[in-house]
Amino acid sequence: MKKMVGVLLISMLVFVLAACGQDAQEDSADDASDLTIGLSVADLTLERWQHDRDIFVETAEEHGAEVIVQSADGDEAVQTSQVENMLTQGVDVLVIIAHNSDSIGAVAQEAVDEGVPVIAYDRMINNAEIDAYISFDNERVGEMQAEYIVDQVPEGRYFMMGGAPTDNNAQMFRDGQMNIIEPLVDSGDIEIVGDQWADDWSASAALEIMENALTANNNEIDAVVASNDNTAGGAIQALAAEGLDGEVAISGQDADLAGVQRIVEGTQTMTVYKQIHLIASEAAELAVSVGTGEDIDFDDEIENGVIDVPSVLLDPIAVDESNVIETVIEDGFHSFEDVYSNVPEDERPDYDGE
Ligand code: GAL
Repeated sequence: MKKMVGVLLISMLVFVLAACGQDAQEDSADDASDLTIGLSVADLTLERWQHDRDIFVETAEEHGAEVIVQSADGDEAVQTSQVENMLTQGVDVLVIIAHNSDSIGAVAQEAVDEGVPVIAYDRMINNAEIDAYISFDNERVGEMQAEYIVDQVPEGRYFMMGGAPTDNNAQMFRDGQMNIIEPLVDSGDIEIVGDQWADDWSASAALEIMENALTANNNEIDAVVASNDNTAGGAIQALAAEGLDGEVAISGQDADLAGVQRIVEGTQTMTVYKQIHLIASEAAELAVSVGTGEDIDFDDEIENGVIDVPSVLLDPIAVDESNVIETVIEDGFHSFEDVYSNVPEDERPDYDGE
């Protein structure tokens, strides 16, 4: 409830700003026209972050701000030096999607010490006195994944496919998953037959992990709790090689195009859809507000090792075949044509949205 109020407050702030009439709009556009925002992205090779980047930049530019975007392509040392570079270039606000939530802390603190506000986007930045954190309720994401899979496979042999060990969120997803699964392990209904983490959320790492897990278990695996779509994709490739795709329940996250295609084709069980248009546009609004010195009301706080960071936490949505149209497609995140492109036309559901 508290989170809902937080989201509402931010939405209202955005709405009030938008509704303040032409003058106010012009003022805020004028204010932001001097603003340069540095957006440091951990890894633009993953589909999810390309959506975030596009919507963030578009929204910030609507406010007249300029955005410098850099991708570290999954390398924490590169990200630190890119952020240092942005500081040298004189950005007014930094928005960071951290590759490594711990190691990015030092340069984030450096920015704050220089008077450049820092916003942690989606992934927390640890051990730095940053100004704000905007994300989804990540523990809830993990619970949704496990709840769905447990519902499909109430008893059986489970494999846990974790995300990047360097990503603070990956641990939060796992905490959420274990909230649901632990009691069933205790009752003996579920046996966890393996638990590994895929470096950089990489599909090829997940493929290899899954191949080894299948071999070690004589293919006797009933369910895979995978933390995102990219790693689910790798795992499903390994399952397919054994003719087990579609037989083994498997979760995901991000509503990547490939992920939702697999859902409607029947090889992936579910995904968790995070409304990227919400986080990206609200983060851009936040960056403009922080950069122009506006007061902002936050309703949540998340501890990052040194402070309680003022936070905005958005609600994720569980998506399967039954609600993919009313969520991912109707939001315009992916088109009906794209999602169903591998499904023969006479097997597609009715849809008159296009
Ligand atoms: C997480 C993020 C997920 C997923 C993953 C891989 O931090 O919360 O939505 O995208 O990274 O990039």
